[in-house]
Amino acid sequence: MLGLMAKLTEQTVREALSGVPYPGFSRDIVSFGLVKAVEVEGGKARVSLALTTSDPEVAPRLKAAVEEALRAVEGLEEPEVMVAVKASGSEDGKSAAGEAEAGAGNNPMQKVRSAIAIASGKGGVGKSTFTVNLACALDRQFRAEGREGAVGIMDCDIYGPTVPLMLGVNQRPEVEDGFIQPLENFGIQVMSMGFLVDEHTPVIWRGPMVMKTIQQFAQNVAWGDLEVLLVDLPPGTGDAQLSLVQTVPLEGAVVVTTPQPASVNVARRGALMFDKVSVPVLGVAENMSYLLEEATGERQYLFGEGGGRATADYLEVPLLGQVPLDGRIREGGDMGVPIVLSDPDLPCAEAFNAIAASLKGRLASRA
Ligand SMILES: Nc1ncnc2c1ncn2[C@@H]1O[C@H](COP(=O)(O)OP(=O)(O)O)[C@@H](O)[C@H]1O
Ligand SMILES: [Mg+2]
Repeated sequence: MLGLMAKLTEQTVREALSGVPYPGFSRDIVSFGLVKAVEVEGGKARVSLALTTSDPEVAPRLKAAVEEALRAVEGLEEPEVMVAVKASGSEDGKSAAGEAEAGAGNNPMQKVRSAIAIASGKGGVGKSTFTVNLACALDRQFRAEGREGAVGIMDCDIYGPTVPLMLGVNQRPEVEDGFIQPLENFGIQVMSMGFLVDEHTPVIWRGPMVMKTIQQFAQNVAWGDLEVLLVDLPPGTGDAQLSLVQTVPLEGAVVVTTPQPASVNVARRGALMFDKVSVPVLGVAENMSYLLEEATGERQYLFGEGGGRATADYLEVPLLGQVPLDGRIREGGDMGVPIVLSDPDLPCAEAFNAIAASLKGRLASRA
């Protein structure tokens, strides 16, 4: 028996570590990049982990879980586990979330009538562009009824928080009485994860490391009296999205897709995620649907056809509308002035207005 005992290698230790999930997530600590070093000597193994969190419970829980996993490794007699924690409440925008913890307890979402998640299965479908233009279109419609300041955007896309750029806001938010004050432009209230993670933070560190901070952040923004708060989720339907969707009390979700027929596959996963947390999908919006030849009204379907319709049918929800592909939409985003505001009569702006009207009607009938 003794002769058969497996020799302990760094490889076996790493394999065992890849079976340990980050507390609260299904993804493992190796793929999250938390394992900094593994040293093996005879039957001893020393493992170093490094993480950023403001939650004091994470490190001890992680240490215990890793020790348990290592005890199950054949040939390993003495696991030594070190967890280095870097607090996430130190500098820059991060302190805003830290300070905001003090204000917790009082639910600032109380003044928000409907929080709506804007979701997509993958990045680059124009989710943020859609969110920003939809917000402006909704705001115009509320304003026409004499209701000002009714719309806000919470940009939770930690991987690419582009909403501030697209709406032309770029200041550090203030903290008052423990609550982060949203910024405002064009009458839209805005809060973004872009104020929290800086662009030099490698992507792999973002999701898990700051998730707890993000949850606090999301729960501690002093939203005004809003009819609608649009929540720009990170693309995809994994743990990060699920945990955000659980953090913010959502009235429903809008799924943004592109016209490729295959997009329905992605929608399936999205539907599952919203199902898990009982958030209804209110509708599907198709973006980059076609190129419009304005003189003739002719449409060119560059990316194929039918993805939005198929997705809506699969989810058994309405197709709220189709937004054409238009270079002026991108320019508006880059300039920080949404097309719905700069050129409200263009056909592409009209598409956003129509979707806003449809969504607004749906919300009113649910109320
Ligand atoms: N309908 C559209 N027509 C032209 N460009 C668009 C359109 N929708 C989005 N874009 C552009 O596509 C790129 C990705 O859009 P973005 O909103 O950042 O996507 P996501 O948030 O899904 O990653 C941006 O450069 C944006 O300006
Ligand atoms: Mg985006």
